[in-house]
Amino acid sequence: MTDSPRMTSAGLSAADFTANRRSAMALGAVGIAAAALPQTALARDEAAAPVASPRREWLLDRGWRFHMGHAADMAKDFDWGINQRTYAKPGLVTSPAAIADFDESAWAHVSVPHDWAVDLPYAEPATPAPEDKADAVAAHGFKAIGRAFPQNSVGWYRLRLPVGAADKGRAVWLEFDGVFRACKVFVNGFEAGGSESGYAPFRVNIADFLDYDGGANQLALRVDASLGEGWFYEGAGIYRNVRLVSADAAHVPQWGTCVRSEIDAEGAKVSLATTLANASEGKVTVTLRQSIRDAEGRQAARAADRQVELAPLGSTEIEQGVHIRTPQLWSPASPMLYTLVTEVLRDGMPVDRYETPFGVRTVTFDAVKGFTINGQNVKLMGVCNHQDHAGVGSAIPDALHAWRVDRSIEMGVNSWRSAHNPPAQALLDICDRKGMMMIAETRLNTTNPEAMDELERMILSSRNHPSVILWSVGNEEGHQGSERGRRISAELVARCKALDPTRLTTQAMDQGWDGGAAEAVDVVGFNYRNDKIPAWHERHPNKPVIGTETGSTVSTRGAYENDAARHIVKAYDTEHPWWASTAEEWWTIVANAPYIAGGFIWTGFDYRGEPTPYPAFPSVSSYFGAMDICGFAKDNYYYYRAWWRPDQPLVHLLPHWNWAGREGQPIPVWAHGNCEEIELLLNGKSLGRKPMPRNGHLEWQVPYAPGKLEARGYNGGKLAAQDARVTAGAPAKLRLTADRKRYTAAIADAATLRVEVLDKAGNVVPTADDALTFTVSGPAQIIGLGNGNPTSTEPDKGRTRKAFNGLAQAIVQGTGQSGAVRVTVSGAGLASTAVDLSFHS
Ligand code: GAL
Repeated sequence: MTDSPRMTSAGLSAADFTANRRSAMALGAVGIAAAALPQTALARDEAAAPVASPRREWLLDRGWRFHMGHAADMAKDFDWGINQRTYAKPGLVTSPAAIADFDESAWAHVSVPHDWAVDLPYAEPATPAPEDKADAVAAHGFKAIGRAFPQNSVGWYRLRLPVGAADKGRAVWLEFDGVFRACKVFVNGFEAGGSESGYAPFRVNIADFLDYDGGANQLALRVDASLGEGWFYEGAGIYRNVRLVSADAAHVPQWGTCVRSEIDAEGAKVSLATTLANASEGKVTVTLRQSIRDAEGRQAARAADRQVELAPLGSTEIEQGVHIRTPQLWSPASPMLYTLVTEVLRDGMPVDRYETPFGVRTVTFDAVKGFTINGQNVKLMGVCNHQDHAGVGSAIPDALHAWRVDRSIEMGVNSWRSAHNPPAQALLDICDRKGMMMIAETRLNTTNPEAMDELERMILSSRNHPSVILWSVGNEEGHQGSERGRRISAELVARCKALDPTRLTTQAMDQGWDGGAAEAVDVVGFNYRNDKIPAWHERHPNKPVIGTETGSTVSTRGAYENDAARHIVKAYDTEHPWWASTAEEWWTIVANAPYIAGGFIWTGFDYRGEPTPYPAFPSVSSYFGAMDICGFAKDNYYYYRAWWRPDQPLVHLLPHWNWAGREGQPIPVWAHGNCEEIELLLNGKSLGRKPMPRNGHLEWQVPYAPGKLEARGYNGGKLAAQDARVTAGAPAKLRLTADRKRYTAAIADAATLRVEVLDKAGNVVPTADDALTFTVSGPAQIIGLGNGNPTSTEPDKGRTRKAFNGLAQAIVQGTGQSGAVRVTVSGAGLASTAVDLSFHS
């Protein structure tokens, strides 16, 4: 675990991920700790008054022990449910693994985030499985998890909590950002809480169950991933961050603030709804003090202090309003954040302090104008994504979330749909800071208590994030177009509005848009079928609309011919399943219709499972991404990059130019780009110039001759951009590039390393699949490897991985100590190479 007061910000170059924010809690060393303190507030905080009873917060990342349980064999499931008395006596749940006194020395050491599914073997069906079973396995990436694999589907975690005598009389709780799934949280043998949902964040109060007299305080979790919630790889275990918080009895609970802003004649009118809780058995009178700081740490507004009487073990909500004059608005281009600082004072002394980053911005969806932010029309150029990445599965370190957002922004993406579940809090923090807009989606489109609770948790946890622009209440539900579907969505929408009247709602639908749920939500979501939008719009001219899912173009990165036997899909923008379209088809429709607010491609990144169009082993991941599962760009990435960043001249040429044996035969050559004209040259000889159609691409048939194929882009007759493909020779050496040089040693940080296989002359060999071996010296380790091949069944962990079409990826994490780290990559017959990194604790 990481005790927040000990975290430091040393070595951080780019204030890029949540660890950075938490690093600000190094200030705890002078007695100040905070819930979420942005880096920018550092200077001002150092001078702030000490808090008498400071909040203590630990990121529970290191020090966990893990063991597989068993969903069908009680003996192998640590006797869970061994007799009828499982819940007979609280504090005496029957599993020894849930109580304090248990020998866990045989359990594995793991850190959190943790996904045990990514390490499981593949469940290649030996014989053709019945249709429904085959689908279940393929959809989840052929990992051997689920009801048919009880030995792999339950995991137990244990962690000794660092709380005790000093926490007596305080509020103590755990904050889980997401556990997959059906988890029970035990503290000292008491079942303290849990979550059925694998996606919604949850809080567990534990103060009642703690030992304050020097005894151990043992946390244990039983996590059961036997059942799925999706038709895609979902991971298993504590795959998102967990925090332990100890606060004064009079405190702001988790998600205890709600900040809303509205622009008026005098600036921004900011309404504050603040919950104060009292964990003590006596009445407490406190002062609530709230102020707002701008990104530089300057006070931008202050509310009048308010005396509040808190009933024993009670809580109350206080409403206040303040004004920010000439507010700095939040937008993708300028993601300005403010921080609400909430202090709770007893007898004039601050005893708790809670910080809420927020942004001031106005978002509208209009049936004529589409989407606006702060009055400016912006097209939503979006990606849908699951939480899944090469090497690590769903257990994505914060820095890798940030890296994925950066890759998307480079492509021109300004919005992200978290499909089909609430996003990780770490991802939302990053989107706030980087200006990525977000559609947050609840997993269950139904109104049973569990579904309503999941929706509520999503909204309470996420409503202060300026990045969130819409709540989505469903996706392609069976009942979407029916009256029942309308009723269900209407109730979900009503709950959204009650908890957050500032945001609109949507639902992703693939049919039935003339009625049903489409009547219940504010913004109608079309999944595909963009060609049907214009006629629908004529029928519903007052209803805003977006493409909640678009594209679903399929491709294998760096492949240019279909090969059904090898499950390879060519990466020209031509391949898609029947319900979907090419990138160019959908974007042309949306780009030319001002009333369509935008579209979210399915998907930004490939992910495990759903291996369309080859739902059979060994296709273990999807082919939908503009990027592969490592985040390496496929060719369509450049189609979007061209038209989503039209002010940045671009030419991108495909395919590669290694077609030995095909001399003289025509090869289809495409150029993506946004220059007015593109000239193609082979070995220095011009093959002509063509005008680039707006939102289109160019094609040639070029008889193959080895050498250099070049594209030159001209604007106003002047060379503005160029690209080339060179016939590469045999693999001879390697290039290893890291995304940064300096990293923190925290679990939240990670280095993303790109390996390229080169020929003697330094050209990337676009067909290379050499086996690579990685070694690490110094205080770091590889936490995952990948190559973007949807049919690769090599382990994600370890030291070896083949390259795929010239590329591979390694993700490296610090072990907690400071030091120099050298990562070396080698392969048979290839000159090895290394990269030097430094890690700071
Ligand atoms: C949609 C669905 C997505 C994904 C996609 C593939 O129907 O909402 O989750 O399955 O199709 O094209």
